[in-house]
Amino acid sequence: MEIDVLTLFPRIFEGPLEESILKRAQQKGVVAVRVHNLRDFTHDKHRVVDDKPYGGGPGMLMKPEPIFEAVEKFRRADSRVVLMTPQGASLTQSRAQEFSRVTHLVIICGHYEGVDERVREALVDDEVSIGDYVLTNGALAAAVMVDAVARLLPGVLGDEQSAGDDSFASGLLEGPQYTRPPEFCGMRVPDVLLSGDHEAIAQWRAEQARQRTKKRRPDLLK
Ligand code: 6GU
Repeated sequence: MEIDVLTLFPRIFEGPLEESILKRAQQKGVVAVRVHNLRDFTHDKHRVVDDKPYGGGPGMLMKPEPIFEAVEKFRRADSRVVLMTPQGASLTQSRAQEFSRVTHLVIICGHYEGVDERVREALVDDEVSIGDYVLTNGALAAAVMVDAVARLLPGVLGDEQSAGDDSFASGLLEGPQYTRPPEFCGMRVPDVLLSGDHEAIAQWRAEQARQRTKKRRPDLLK
């Protein structure tokens, strides 16, 4: 998969790409992420990327011209153009799975009070929010989106199983897990996990996942 990220703050986005699994995924060539500064798509002396909203009101909007120029440079026939905005539909595991099947993503990071509406009208295929709260900066949200999508690509996670066992992949939260030692500070690992009885273990895990989901996220059971 290839991803072009358009942002006013490339350094905010870059940190998460330079560590651990995302770094390795890029080294392996499973995903290529390129981060571009929208200011590089201005042509005036002061490299202006924002302007006041028509009709008045607080804050500044992202001007359309640099975004159009950048998207038109990177967009191809196989691209999906995504705008990160709190007005988008929330990113879910199933949406992340859907995006992971796209061959080229162009991600526009919204900043300030938003973007000129003509960006949505003419360029954007999908609007994505990462949850019901407001961030100062779409680059943080884009990093979350890229992480959620990239880890689903074949070969990114060491054990192919592990994305399948995720919370949400099954529609349920994951239940409790333990590693050694069998007793720690007086707290014991449940006997069933030490029993070697794979069927009993699978049953216990399924029940724990159901109970945890019912208690914490009853909305997922509906
Ligand atoms: Cl995508 N952007 C901003 N600025 N805030 C958010 C968000 C996105 N998703 C949740 N909050």
